[in-house]
Amino acid sequence: MTRGEVTTRRAVPADVPELVAFWARVGENGSRPPDRPELVERLLQHDPDAVLVAEVDGRLVATIVCGWDGWRANLYRLAVAPELRGRGVARHLLDLAEDRLRGLGAERFCAMVLDENKLGTAWWRSVGYEPQAEWSRWVKDA
Ligand SMILES: CC(C)(COP(=O)(O)OP(=O)(O)OC[C@H]1O[C@@H](n2cnc3c(N)ncnc32)[C@H](O)[C@@H]1OP(=O)(O)O)[C@@H](O)C(=O)NCCC(=O)NCCS
Repeated sequence: MTRGEVTTRRAVPADVPELVAFWARVGENGSRPPDRPELVERLLQHDPDAVLVAEVDGRLVATIVCGWDGWRANLYRLAVAPELRGRGVARHLLDLAEDRLRGLGAERFCAMVLDENKLGTAWWRSVGYEPQAEWSRWVKDA
């Protein structure tokens, strides 16, 4: 799919090194274990449509992970290269991700956003998402 000079497609295993480097540079990086290429490869093996990317002239400029486990639809790693922000690229990727998840049967979308990420929380609000005050995420290392 093309939007101006920005094209979108699903990520493939050959993208993994660039994805990991992009997320280290541009993604929301607090409070999570560092990415490792083999983990992203495993995700693509498990669900080849889980990662959507936007590119300009073959250079990766935006990503979103749209995970469907058969029960819940989870969105992660929405990130746009700083020089392309404010042009609707994130909105476009989110539309594609929501379409995909809706098509799989999702009735609600869940986005992971750090509370302290003012840009991210304002953005997700602007596209209709709300924090759920009555729930917290509880975690334990495997
Ligand atoms: C948040 C982020 C993904 C937004 O990407 P973007 O491509 O600039 O966003 P878009 O241009 O698609 O914005 C779409 C809409 O949100 C609005 N918007 C953009 N930035 C906004 C902000 N900071 N606060 C509120 N609204 C905002 C735009 O006005 C636009 O509305 P419109 O379609 O009515 O004009 C980008 O800033 C980013 O990569 N941040 C770093 C990573 C991050 O924090 N990710 C989110 C947490 S997972």
